[in-house]
Amino acid sequence: MRRVVVTGGAGFLGSAVVRHLIRRTEHEVITLDALTYAGDLRALESVASHPRHRFERLDIRQGRAVQALFEEARPDAVIHLAAESHVDRSLDHAAPFVDTNVVGTATLLDVVRAWLDHPDGPSRDRFRFVHVSTDEVYGDLPIEGGERFDEESPYDPHSPYAASKAASDHLVGAWAHSWAVPAVITHGTNTYGPGQYPEKLIPVAILRALAGEPIPLFGSGRNVRDWIHVDDHASALVRILERAEPGARFGIGARCEHANLAVVSQICALLDEIAPRADGEGHAAAITFVADRPGHDRRYATDPSALETALGWSPEVGWAEGLRATVQWFVDHEQWCRDRLNRR
Ligand SMILES: NC(=O)c1ccc[n+]([C@@H]2O[C@H](COP(=O)([O-])OP(=O)(O)OC[C@H]3O[C@@H](n4cnc5c(N)ncnc54)[C@H](O)[C@@H]3O)[C@@H](O)[C@H]2O)c1
Repeated sequence: MRRVVVTGGAGFLGSAVVRHLIRRTEHEVITLDALTYAGDLRALESVASHPRHRFERLDIRQGRAVQALFEEARPDAVIHLAAESHVDRSLDHAAPFVDTNVVGTATLLDVVRAWLDHPDGPSRDRFRFVHVSTDEVYGDLPIEGGERFDEESPYDPHSPYAASKAASDHLVGAWAHSWAVPAVITHGTNTYGPGQYPEKLIPVAILRALAGEPIPLFGSGRNVRDWIHVDDHASALVRILERAEPGARFGIGARCEHANLAVVSQICALLDEIAPRADGEGHAAAITFVADRPGHDRRYATDPSALETALGWSPEVGWAEGLRATVQWFVDHEQWCRDRLNRR
C-alpha cells in the first residue's frame, strides 16, 4: 500500500487515475490540483469522501506550500499529471505551458528531492515519481507505412505544448541522474472518454453536433491519431506505479489508429442513432473543414509492446464500445459540459 500524490487529479486523465486508485487498489490518494479551467471536482464526486482520499487545492509552482503538504501527508509516490494540455491553446499563448509544464515540474521535482532527503522521508527504494508525458514529444510519423513510436524514438516536439512536455521529461531525467529521484516516464497517446474538457476533438464534435452547429475539422481530416480509452490509460499508469523500475520509460497505447475524419464520421453515425437531428438530415452534414492548425502533426502511433511484455498490461476497452459509451455520456451530460464552458 502506498500514499500517492496525484497532481492534476481533478483533470480528465488525473481524475480517472484517482478513481482507479480508490476503487481498484488499496492505496491512499492525495489529489493535488490548482483547479484551472480544466479541473473540475465533479469528476471526483464518486470518490471524494472516501476515507482513503483527500483533496488539496494547490498549484505545483507553489513550492513551499507543496513541500509543507509532503511533510505533513508523507507520500511515498507521485503521479504527476498537472499540466496545460491543449495544443491549440499553446499555439495561441505558449507562456502558461512553460510556466506550468516546465517551471511547475522543476518546482515539484525540487519538493520531491527535499522530501527524499528529509529525515522522515521515504527510502529511495520505495518511492516512485511517475511522470505522465505524451507521445507528442516524438513529433509525427508519415500517414502511410505503419511505423510506430517506441521508447527509443528521438525527441522532436513540434507544438509549444509538446516542447514544454519534452522539456519536463528532460528535467525528470536530470533530477533522476543528479539526485537519484526514482522516476519513470510515460508517453501516452491520444486519450478519450467521459468527462474530457470540451475543447478537444471528440467532445467538441459531439457538443457541436448536438447544438446543430458546424463541426470543425482541421485541414482535410486525414491526420491520424492513435486512441486509448481514459480508463485504460489510467490502469496503465497505476500498473507502472506499482511495478516499473526507476529509470524505465513506457509508451502507452491501444493500437487504435483512426483518421480524424473517420472519428468524427463515426461520432455522427452514433448520434444519428442516439440523438437524431430534428430536420431528418444526418449529423455528418455539419462537418466543416477549416484552415489547418499550424504545423499540424500528420500521424501519431505508439507501440505499447514494452509495457505489455514487461508489466503484463493490456487495454480492456474496445474502440467501438468505448466511443459509443463516450458519445452517450456527452449526450447525457450536455448541460454539465455547457456549464463548464460557461464557467471560464
Ligand atoms: N489527454 C490526453 O490525450 C493525454 C495524452 C497523453 C498524455 N497526457 C498528459 O496527461 C496529463 C493530464 O492530461 P489531461 O488530458 O487530463 O489534462 P487536463 O487539462 O484535463 O487536466 C489538467 C489538470 O491539471 C490541473 N493543473 C493545471 N495547472 C496546474 C498547476 N499549475 N498546479 C496544479 N494543478 C494544475 C488542472 O486544474 C487540471 O485538473 C498531462 O500532463 C498531459 O500532458 C494527456
